Amino acid sequence: MATNEERLGRLTRMREESLLGGGPVRIERQHAWGKLTARERLDLLLDPGTFIELDAFVTHRSKEFGLDKQHFLGDGVVTGHGLVDGRLVFVFSQDFTVFGGSLSEAYAEKICKVMDLAMKVGAPLIGLNDSGGARIQEGVVSLGGYADIFLRNVLASGVIPQISVIMGPCAGGAVYSPAMTDFTLMVEGTSYMFVTGPNVVKAVTHEDVDSERLGGAITHTTRSGVAHLAAKDEAESLDLTRRILGFLPQNNLASPPIVPTRDPSDRRDIELDTIVPDDPQKPYDMHGVIIRIFDDGRFLEIQPDWAANIIIGFGRLAGRSVGIVAQQPAVLAGALDINSSIKAARFVRTCDAFNVPLVTFVDVPGFLPGVGQEDAGIIKHGAKLLYAYCEATVPKMTVITRKAYGGAYDVMSSKHVRGDMNFAWPTAEIAVMGAEGAVNIIFKDQIAAADDVVAERARLIAEYEAEFNNPYVAAARGYIDDIIHPSDTRPRLIAALEMLADKRDENPRKKHGNIPL
Ligand code: HXC
Repeated sequence: MATNEERLGRLTRMREESLLGGGPVRIERQHAWGKLTARERLDLLLDPGTFIELDAFVTHRSKEFGLDKQHFLGDGVVTGHGLVDGRLVFVFSQDFTVFGGSLSEAYAEKICKVMDLAMKVGAPLIGLNDSGGARIQEGVVSLGGYADIFLRNVLASGVIPQISVIMGPCAGGAVYSPAMTDFTLMVEGTSYMFVTGPNVVKAVTHEDVDSERLGGAITHTTRSGVAHLAAKDEAESLDLTRRILGFLPQNNLASPPIVPTRDPSDRRDIELDTIVPDDPQKPYDMHGVIIRIFDDGRFLEIQPDWAANIIIGFGRLAGRSVGIVAQQPAVLAGALDINSSIKAARFVRTCDAFNVPLVTFVDVPGFLPGVGQEDAGIIKHGAKLLYAYCEATVPKMTVITRKAYGGAYDVMSSKHVRGDMNFAWPTAEIAVMGAEGAVNIIFKDQIAAADDVVAERARLIAEYEAEFNNPYVAAARGYIDDIIHPSDTRPRLIAALEMLADKRDENPRKKHGNIPL
């Protein structure tokens, strides 16, 4: 019979074995690639000493292809819970040193277990992904395991925040779970996401492409929009994950944390009074507006390099977390096109799901015209943003800095789509279209009949601008709650946010809406 000492010794040995994953040689290889191990990553993500591991002794049950002779304690994924800034999170961290981080039945069960726990207690789930996809030796059982995870991703969507960090070559099933989470982050140079890798692409489409171009961090943060942020290295990607979590609540029934600030609530910024150029055709950088308004000039921009004609991200007002959506007049004049509509719509829905109030800055000449945009469905995709704003019941504050033309005026959190507090700067132009376009249509005959066509057109444009291209017509109808000095924007937004803190609003009961996907 074994003594207690022997039993304890066995536990210690097995624990030590489980910490080694695929073994020292493969750990060395992981480091040589510039990657950390699954456990090193968790150490960086979580508050020191808070990780509690589950299922360290799980092994796969496969007997095919010689797998019965290869067992690794933990089976390629480290799971458990820990704290981020003192708040509970559930985690899984895929271990590429064990069968390339590929997903087996047992591995999937481990992930499902932490997903179920996260749902039961209402805490965020963070997945660190580094996986060759389905474990090929396990066949359909592995596919089933993926589907079990996908289902849980969907059931958890809008209930607990889910964040995915891509930290290695992720193929096949390994990319579809991240795609259904709220935020996907990638690491430049070492992480890839693709449905099929370069070799399969070559065989099927005869395209020669390397992993970086096909599915690297730059591709997915500038071309496809699949990933939300690219980090320079793994440490930065985990730091960004912690920062995103700081703006989100634990679950859909909770509020985001309030972070005390020394930035005064009554701080005015007179630079804002002159930030919009006198010439309405001249661009300016909306980032300059944002950093002057939010606490401590801090703004965590999401998807900065994709669809840059719209800006999205998180900031704080008097310590309260807010989601910011803003046109960028410096890119495509801030026009709404397909990608910017999709980008902002998704963000508005994320904020609404997690009780993060929305602040919208409007300077939009309208939807981008053109055959390309129409062919690709700007109507359907633009409708996503309209739908998202209409549906959102979180506090919604809007600041029109300059142009709010046409349908885009309606879309951008207008009073009509349940904007709670809508402000305009004196530089605002709220109209169906710009003065020149309007005059050319309304006064076509009058201009053509004039002795001096150029002078007549200029006179009519000036008249139209004075009469209609301003915020006063909309304010006279109550479509704008107040016209404010730009320098007062911070104190006014904070007052509005505090007034709206206990806002309650509901949509009609239904199974779910039918957003134009
Ligand atoms: C089992 C795998 C594996 C897998 C890698 N390995 N992928 N084992 N199943 N899917 C093992 C390798 O045999 C190797 O084992 C170790 O992991 C490291 O792999 P390498 O190829 O040496 O590494 P690297 O050169 O960096 O290439 C990584 C890779 C490549 C790009 C991920 O391994 C690869 O292309 N793997 C297959 C990807 C794939 O097609 N997956 C199935 C997708 S289908 P040793 O013992 O040598 O260390 C899928 C279906 C789900 O996922 C769909 C749901 C919608």
